[in-house]
Amino acid sequence: MSAATPPYTALSLELDGPVAVVTLQRPERMNALSRVLLQEIGTVFRALSADPAVRAVVLTGSGEKAFCAGADLKERQGMSEDDVRGLLGLYRESFGAVDACPKPVVAAIQGVALGGGFELALACDLRVASAGAVVGLPETSLAIIPGAGGTQRLPRLVGPGRAKEMILLARRYAAHEALALGLVTALATPGETAIAAAKRLVAPLAGGAPIALAAAMEAVDGGADLDLEEGLLLEARCYEKTLVSTDRREALAAFSEGRKPVYRGE
Ligand code: COA
Repeated sequence: MSAATPPYTALSLELDGPVAVVTLQRPERMNALSRVLLQEIGTVFRALSADPAVRAVVLTGSGEKAFCAGADLKERQGMSEDDVRGLLGLYRESFGAVDACPKPVVAAIQGVALGGGFELALACDLRVASAGAVVGLPETSLAIIPGAGGTQRLPRLVGPGRAKEMILLARRYAAHEALALGLVTALATPGETAIAAAKRLVAPLAGGAPIALAAAMEAVDGGADLDLEEGLLLEARCYEKTLVSTDRREALAAFSEGRKPVYRGE
């Protein structure tokens, strides 16, 4: 299946060799998450997951002002309670496709990542922010709670104390604070855009061993909900996938021959 096939209207997909760049394309609404955009996020990530030519993914927003300003509050205005319930299911499904992607996914955060926008970044494996980026979960100030995984993925990332601080105070964090708290994993260098920093970060991943990268993410993500004993068994099952791979033999051969390994995901 080629990820390039479906026509996308609210996002764009660029294939830069083995790196796919997915860009939310609603700059006039700060890349807010409309129903169509949510559907397309699910579609593109399911397609990228199944495309063996794609080794890593960068997810970003168009324009300099926003990665994503969260739910499309204008679209939501006319919705019934049942409409919103249905939409929350779509968030779970589409962000779940990002989370489940077996290739490393890096969020490149330029400008604001608020509410569902930050929750989308939380579904990624790594988060890189530009110096001017701002992240936050303002939902409780809007009389709701984060409903796209924020109350679950954030405490797994930074612990319940920090997560409650961010969610209850509905505070916005500047890039340097976000880095210090572990909300983002890296900052762009001065003058560098988030997308450039993210591409720099994924370059080695794009040449990495796909089975090992997928197994490592499966072990880390899956282990978060297990006790140590079960987690170690999961690690063993994930290790087994790499043990029987041709890429593992290639790594050993390349080491003894003093050359760079070429990994084929086999
Ligand atoms: N949904 C729909 N439209 C949005 C939006 C959202 N979440 N966020 C911004 N927009 C729209 C604005 O309405 C405006 O459109 P208009 O020019 O047609 O009025 C346009 O994007 C630009 O936004 P503006 O507020 O003028 O820009 P700004 O730079 O002053 O502020 C934000 C940007 C993102 C900080 C501010 O718009 C904001 O706080 N948005 C709400 C974010 C939020 O609470 N999200 C979580 C929802 S749970």
